[in-house]
Amino acid sequence: MRKVIIAGNWKMYKTQGEATEFLMEFSSQIDDAPEDREVVLCVPFTDLTTVSKSLHGNRIRLGAQNVHWEECGAYTGEISASMLTEVGVRYVIVGHSERRQYFGETDETVNMRLKAAQASGLIPILCVGETKQQRDAGIAEKVIINQLNNGLIGVSQAKLVIAYEPIWAIGTGETCESAEANRVIGVIRAQLTNPDVTIQYGGSVKPSNIAEIMAQPHIDGVLVGGASLAATDFAGIVNYK
Ligand code: 13P
Repeated sequence: MRKVIIAGNWKMYKTQGEATEFLMEFSSQIDDAPEDREVVLCVPFTDLTTVSKSLHGNRIRLGAQNVHWEECGAYTGEISASMLTEVGVRYVIVGHSERRQYFGETDETVNMRLKAAQASGLIPILCVGETKQQRDAGIAEKVIINQLNNGLIGVSQAKLVIAYEPIWAIGTGETCESAEANRVIGVIRAQLTNPDVTIQYGGSVKPSNIAEIMAQPHIDGVLVGGASLAATDFAGIVNYK
């Protein structure tokens, strides 16, 4: 059975004070959300402890936005898997396009991060997706298949989530047509050996388009950026019908 996972990616937004305020508003708005869906918040490192403490007894799962492949060492600015699990993190985003674009993340480092996450019991959310240029050149599928082939070497498909995030649809307001997102996610699924891997769509997901996106047969959830920052918007997404 593929699990439905609705995840928010706060990126570099929200201080601890703002996170606490968000949770007070958000938690009460998702009380009636159907049990079939997992709700995840991937927050900045400094918010993890605060958010973790506020999640007791409620259904939100904690996520981080990156993890290093070594247990410890001289890696200034990085964080290890055990540092994340210690504060209650269950999910971690790996290979987000912003990491690939601005911080030199490659399929090779993505692969190492995925393996380290799984070795510590974290569930990685592997992000893949093409640029506008690659799409226009007709090589979107080739790019994505490459990201999967290289990223998933030696990675278990038992505890894994994949997010298809077309880069041109991130933060642009330009959502990928849901039928097209479904088609690409079908291509991704065909590359996998485990039929139960949850595959999300990400890119300008909003309360107004969530129902249509989730109605697609291959789409098992969403990874939400901008609209996960406002409690009412994210609750509107979590509560989709
Ligand atoms: P937006 O929802 O702001 O387009 O961001 C998507 C994203 O990058 C989630 O990881």
